[in-house]
Amino acid sequence: MPTSPLIHLSAAGVSLVVAAERDRLPAILHWGAAIVAADADLQAFALAERRRGIDDVSDVPYRPSILPEHAAGWFGRPGLSVHTAGAGWAPQLRVRRVRVDEREPDSEVTQTGAGRITVDAGDPGAGIDVRIELELAPAGLVRTRVRVRNAAADGEPLEVQSVAPALPVPTRATDVLDFAGRWAHERIPQRHAVVRGTHARTSRRGRTGLDATTVLAAGVPGFSSDAGEVWLSHVGFSGDHEHALDRDDASLAFRGSEVLLPGEVRLRGGEEYETPWIHGSYGVGLDAAAARFHAHLRGISRSSRRDRPVTLNVWEAVYFDHDPAVLADLAVQAAALGVERFVLDDGWFRGRRDDRAGLGDWEPDPTVWPDGLRPLADEVRRQGMEFGLWVEPEMINEDSDLARAHPDWMLRAGPELPARYRFQQVLDLTNPDAFAHILGTLDGLITDIGVAYLKWDHNRDLVAAGHPATGAPAVHDQTLALYRMLDELRARHPQLEIESCASGGGRVDLGILARADRVHPSDSHDPIDRFHILRWTGLLVPPEMMGSHVASPVSSVTGRTHDLHYRCAVAFLGHFGIEWDIRELAADDRAALQRWIADYRRFRGLIQTGAAVGGGELDPAGPALRGVVAPDRGEGLFTIVTPATTPDTLSRVRLPGLADERRYRVTSTAPESLGPPWQVPDWLRLTPGLGRAGDAPVLSGSMLRTVGLEFPTFHPERAAVVHVAAVD
Ligand code: DGJ
Repeated sequence: MPTSPLIHLSAAGVSLVVAAERDRLPAILHWGAAIVAADADLQAFALAERRRGIDDVSDVPYRPSILPEHAAGWFGRPGLSVHTAGAGWAPQLRVRRVRVDEREPDSEVTQTGAGRITVDAGDPGAGIDVRIELELAPAGLVRTRVRVRNAAADGEPLEVQSVAPALPVPTRATDVLDFAGRWAHERIPQRHAVVRGTHARTSRRGRTGLDATTVLAAGVPGFSSDAGEVWLSHVGFSGDHEHALDRDDASLAFRGSEVLLPGEVRLRGGEEYETPWIHGSYGVGLDAAAARFHAHLRGISRSSRRDRPVTLNVWEAVYFDHDPAVLADLAVQAAALGVERFVLDDGWFRGRRDDRAGLGDWEPDPTVWPDGLRPLADEVRRQGMEFGLWVEPEMINEDSDLARAHPDWMLRAGPELPARYRFQQVLDLTNPDAFAHILGTLDGLITDIGVAYLKWDHNRDLVAAGHPATGAPAVHDQTLALYRMLDELRARHPQLEIESCASGGGRVDLGILARADRVHPSDSHDPIDRFHILRWTGLLVPPEMMGSHVASPVSSVTGRTHDLHYRCAVAFLGHFGIEWDIRELAADDRAALQRWIADYRRFRGLIQTGAAVGGGELDPAGPALRGVVAPDRGEGLFTIVTPATTPDTLSRVRLPGLADERRYRVTSTAPESLGPPWQVPDWLRLTPGLGRAGDAPVLSGSMLRTVGLEFPTFHPERAAVVHVAAVD
């Protein structure tokens, strides 16, 4: 068996070529567009690319292996930062075994489709065993993770400070796109040049973070939604983590890792630490790269297996002001509009009259709900809807019976409790008793009330979050305990759906999305902001897994006022819902909202299976677009929004993703909301309505894709949903 075989995996237009020098850790020689090469060509390439390294010529830059090693000549951050009482910090890992799809290759070169490479290596002197897994999925998504084991039988623990694999990107990728954010304004793009050194986006918040970049993109100059090679990286973890881009001599690489706090992982003999999956996605244009994440999620999520039910969430309708009669009335009115899932948000449990008390006491408040929640849940079901419930199980208010009974169940790094944050503390789920208590309580609620959906919230960062008994850092263990709890609940309730919410989009990552069916992208439903939040969160998450709600005309977050059509059009390409006191709807708005809901129900099959596309989103003076195109390109839906201000009254909008040779019938929603009729071109002004029968223009995919149609930009803050259907 060759210990250093040359391996080429190729799937869905992506190639991954991996090779090693002798028994050293393998490096990725190519990750990007699919290549065609005979075995001999690959060998010639590997030889031609060989660098002799520090053994022979000290100035030759080291080609970073998947886990760059200081001992091999890497002067940047090592892949593995570990030590045993100060020793063994520069391990020389030697490969013992390489497998491709669990089998040891029997020749020097292995070429196959999608697959998994497993590398076992170790340094007996340092007492370290390492396993690296590197996968190319059928949809072309790359992911890697590393397991580190203390191979010494006894002695001092092996302290793991960081494990950061390297996914190399060609140095012709000179543009970076990543995202900043804050509460109610997640995923604000920042575009900049790659510079020498490290660009790192680090979260030490104990949750993914409202400011998390979600994906970090590097691409060729000017890469856009549909053009230019681009590589995306993503760390699939919901605790402390880092997305970094290292530019060094002759190398550019994504470095993704969990961020470990001091002393957080100390392995005794035989114990292991495993990194989260670090993902990479290549494409020509952002949409092609994002599609690989979407394929991955659609393959594992419950969301893709059934129509997304139109949802009413009552948070912005009643906040903490719960009145069973009002909520039952809301349920009846929601059902009449076509809503299919009713979600009771925060405020239903004992002592929860505002956000200062009650977290932890997960029983219906007897003063508000003397008969419990069952009557409301039954009414919801009588109206033909599912019942959903808000919970925040990882949190505890000091003013709660649970905290009074178990003051030792709150995470803390010392004798004092950490600072409160929204008046709450973090419940220690690493404590088996606390874990069992919360699991049992949630299980009971789900069973007794008949909960079909949990909105799982998380409203504070983890500050100085230590194990209460020792003060040792607890973020890593807490994150894994959360995963265990979600896994257990899902195993017990195979139909249960879960939404990941953390003050809005503070926990959007592939770790949580292996266990949750959708995310709440933001607490802002303001359509101006929401359009961009959906677009950029959508680089990772497919449309149907992003909650997308129509809220009141005046945004509760920004105070801006928007027309109903604009709000509905922006929410349309997501998991559509309402978050508004629908009792206040005027008759015409009620009828309009009912039509939008009916349209969503007609088109949701396309929304939840189509390829997501975007355009114009980085140009503040032009219209921007989000869309979905059916896999066979027979149909597409596009939300087009007008810019805040522009000197143009009209602007050409191209519809991406369509097949050049096909011909499409083009229809749209609500032209009257786009401006005065003399400003609205006839293809919009005379439309029979979204996908409806009647006269409508038919144009080639080529024209729609490369030339586009004129869209009125006379009024700011307007939008239309445009449908195209192939007629051939
Ligand atoms: C934060 C969430 O993002 C909101 O949607 C709402 O559920 C509140 N928490 C409730 O406290």
